[in-house]
Amino acid sequence: LPPLKVAVAGCGVVGGGVLGRLLNDPRYDVVGVLVRNPDKPRDVPCPPDLFTADADVLLSRKPDIVLEALSEGEAGHALIRKALEAGCDVASANKQAVSRDPAGLQALAYQKGRRVFWSASVGGGSPMIETVRAARAAGEVAGFEAVLNGTVNFMLERLVDGAAFAEALADARAAGFAEEDPSADLEGLDAAAKVRLLAYEAFGVSPDADAVPRDHLSDQTEAAPGVRQIGACRRDGAALEPSVRLTADHGDPLFSSLSGEGNALKVWNADGRVWRCRGRGAGRWATTESIMADLAEIVRARRADAGLN
Ligand code: NDP
Ligand code: HSE
Repeated sequence: LPPLKVAVAGCGVVGGGVLGRLLNDPRYDVVGVLVRNPDKPRDVPCPPDLFTADADVLLSRKPDIVLEALSEGEAGHALIRKALEAGCDVASANKQAVSRDPAGLQALAYQKGRRVFWSASVGGGSPMIETVRAARAAGEVAGFEAVLNGTVNFMLERLVDGAAFAEALADARAAGFAEEDPSADLEGLDAAAKVRLLAYEAFGVSPDADAVPRDHLSDQTEAAPGVRQIGACRRDGAALEPSVRLTADHGDPLFSSLSGEGNALKVWNADGRVWRCRGRGAGRWATTESIMADLAEIVRARRADAGLN
């Protein structure tokens, strides 16, 4: 194949990492980078004419593939739909975008003969989507529980070590773990979007956003050793029971042994079989590697479509 034309949406923690990898890889030709402010200094050396603030301009450069890492859910969702409509394959790290309507995005991709991947949007560098898909392929999924937010896990550990709340939050932001608006991490909105997306993968349906009760992490939270933010969803007959809770009552060393921005997942089937995975849940390089793995899947599929091995 000639170099694939790739557009990157977002040039922050994640998009900047992806862009840096692509610009050093002769298999890819970066045709554009979507940002809000094209004149803002970036931490990745990149030709300035690649930047645009207009999604239509980005797509007019005819990318084969769009890698989406915007910090806004609505803008990300609109871009993914436009890119699929335009015949692009898409990989997204933006859980607030893809959790809005994962079935609709997959249906659109199918209709257009394209693919949409979102491995990086849950679990950062840990293969949570893949693990849930493996459990579902093996039988009926009964439930899952997981540490899904690196910022909160990192902060809980720092708070137990005696750090002040503001200091722990500032450190999580400096490390690139936190959302642009970190209240999404602290109020469990980020974890809730991930629960909804994992529920879609596990059960074929997502609970509504307002059906996910959420505990908030604040400077009033008593951070005792072993407390974790657990995102969970169990099936009870036809009903789903999703939640995002701060609790020490998770009973699994998989979660209590996690440190820093670590994420982990346990998913179980109705027949009692259990799958687990863990890894780095946030940060530039863990997430970049996950998007690059989705990109590799897209390239494999395009080669197969072209009759190449
Ligand atoms: P950042 O805040 O670092 O970067 C966000 C980027 O999106 C910026 O470049 C910003 O442009 C751009 N952007 C936001 N809204 C728009 C818009 N409407 N139009 C054009 N550009 C826009 O975020 P991250 O890189 O940390 O995260 C990106 C996405 O990846 C988020 O959805 C996040 O949830 C997800 N994610 C993040 C992880 C992490 O560890 N950070 C891990 C896994 C997923 P500008 O720079 O001009 O402001
Ligand atoms: N803010 C998110 C977290 C980024 O801390 O887990 C990874 O999705």
